[in-house]
Amino acid sequence: RDYHFYASLPSTNRTAKELARQGAAEGTVVLAEEQTEGRGRLGRGWYSPPGLGIYFTVILRPAIPLGLAPQVTLLASVAVCKALETVAGVQPSIKWPNDVLLHGKKLCGTLTELNAEMEAVNYLVVGTGINVNQGPEDFPGEVAKVATSLYATTGEKVDRARLFAALLRFFEADYKHWLSAGFERLRSEWLERAAGMGTTVRVIAGQQEWIGRAEGIDSDGALLVRDGGGELRRLISGEVSLRP
Ligand code: BTN
Repeated sequence: RDYHFYASLPSTNRTAKELARQGAAEGTVVLAEEQTEGRGRLGRGWYSPPGLGIYFTVILRPAIPLGLAPQVTLLASVAVCKALETVAGVQPSIKWPNDVLLHGKKLCGTLTELNAEMEAVNYLVVGTGINVNQGPEDFPGEVAKVATSLYATTGEKVDRARLFAALLRFFEADYKHWLSAGFERLRSEWLERAAGMGTTVRVIAGQQEWIGRAEGIDSDGALLVRDGGGELRRLISGEVSLRP
């Protein structure tokens, strides 16, 4: 496998996209000790101080239609959870689509970006950031309200190389299973860890905000939320808040 390791990058997703454009192979990994312009979903940033977290992006070239791409992001969050459970002994939960939470605070996020032609995926870059050894005081004020790290939660430092190696193993196994067997097993592994299912959530989709009851995800990975009128609605992008 091709690894690209950097002491510092603006964003591993950005570098991965450049490499993918130049033809980098499926499975290429871009890893950085620090990001100076780490990017998150919905135009947000990802705080990426040196030496404390894991910031990486994987290039994938699955031969799939565009509509299946969101499943890869769910896959990444399941693989992260399995690695955290195995290496750090914690029980994380997942907030749709792919926030990995510990005690309700965000530990990990994934930003998937893609390039497609004629409704077929050309390449995907799946970028994940995990807060590992940050102390509670290492997060800037606004971030501290919503974010946590393994160390801030458990009081124990974790060997990032061990965690990363486990994560790549789970990710590769889950990805191969998904390619050959489809989404069903991953869907139940995702649901086993899902936060907020069966509870009232606030849905934020573009300019629209509404309250409903989260009921699961469907066979595409879309979130199912029952609205006030009793209608079951499918969410393929956007955000949910567990504090309605
Ligand atoms: C989110 O929860 O909003 C997604 C955060 C994704 C952060 C990771 S860190 C590695 C990769 N490079 C980036 O610039 N972003 C992703």
